Amino acid sequence: MTVYNFCAGPAMLPVEVMKKAQKEFLNWQNLGVSVMEVSHRSAPYLEMAKQCEASLRRLMNISDEFEVLFMHGGGRGHFSAVPLNLHIDGLPGVYVENGIWSTGATKEGAKFTQTHAINIRTDENGQFDILPVSEWKLPEDASFIHYCPNETIDGIEIFDVPKHPSAPIVADMSSNILSREINVDDFDLIYAGAQKNIGPSGLSIAIVRKTLLKREGLPRPAILDYAIEADQQSMYNTPPTFAWYLAFEVFKYLESIGGVKAMEAHNKEKAAILYDYIDSSDFYSNKVATHCRSLMNVPFWLKDDSLNAKFLAEAEQNGLIALEGHRFVGGMRASIYNAMPIEGIKALVAFMDKFAQENS
Ligand SMILES: Cc1ncc(COP(=O)(O)O)c(C=O)c1O
Repeated sequence: MTVYNFCAGPAMLPVEVMKKAQKEFLNWQNLGVSVMEVSHRSAPYLEMAKQCEASLRRLMNISDEFEVLFMHGGGRGHFSAVPLNLHIDGLPGVYVENGIWSTGATKEGAKFTQTHAINIRTDENGQFDILPVSEWKLPEDASFIHYCPNETIDGIEIFDVPKHPSAPIVADMSSNILSREINVDDFDLIYAGAQKNIGPSGLSIAIVRKTLLKREGLPRPAILDYAIEADQQSMYNTPPTFAWYLAFEVFKYLESIGGVKAMEAHNKEKAAILYDYIDSSDFYSNKVATHCRSLMNVPFWLKDDSLNAKFLAEAEQNGLIALEGHRFVGGMRASIYNAMPIEGIKALVAFMDKFAQENS
């Protein structure tokens, strides 16, 4: 039986990539050892790292105005790194909040800097909606504007990019990086934990406008210092070498299938199948306004909560795993990142439909 993994992260990775990694697991580049066993400062690894960055730059069309950093600490590492690196005395860090992760970022930021939180979300009559970017009340002065374009738990995605005349725009793209085309020049700092669309956990990526590296910020650990990491080609200390290698395999794979443009078309098709089915059913519901529904994380609720355990057990018997919603919001959640094939969505919808018929 084919198993489709709907986990929000660590999430499924392309099978082709996993097979390649398996094939060369014990003997990488004919060195007779695993990639996990070679020095990060050895010539083959340094070349891999260089090519990996070049591949990501091609995929996202990242210009020389930006440094690309391969770091530790996941998404949350950047919750700390952002205020520590970007703080300016007397100016607040502005945090736009529309769900659990963006609120978590504010909480972490408040440990280090003055924060100014802006709620853009409404929860009326059980429906979640967000204000359009043009209506966000961003203050004139800020050390940075932080927001989360894809709220992994809430299933809310922001498709427009905010603008500010002076403050850098910082985006936590942990759960939607590489899922659709964006214009990197609209941002000043993009960061993401790897374990959804990039590779295994342990690695995080930061795409930082070079001018920001000159900021003094606050005293900070060297491993969270963007300028030090840029200066040391992300090798200030031993990086998560296996995760970095696997990320490169994912990037090469993405390039081979047509890049982010092709992936975006694929992701839109997948999401449409699932949302259309949910909307057509009176057994399931999704509470997010249609204009801000996530292409990556689709929360849904059964009309009768008491059937949740049965739904999950039977889904698992059918090879559909990790569908339980986050403990903060309940219900179900299908995370349908880049690596989820359309067959997985079709199998899920067929199961949901059968379950609805049998339990109505
Ligand atoms: C949007 C977002 N930000 C941050 C995080 C935290 O990532 P990590 O566990 O890598 O620190 C997550 C994790 O799922 C996330 O989805």
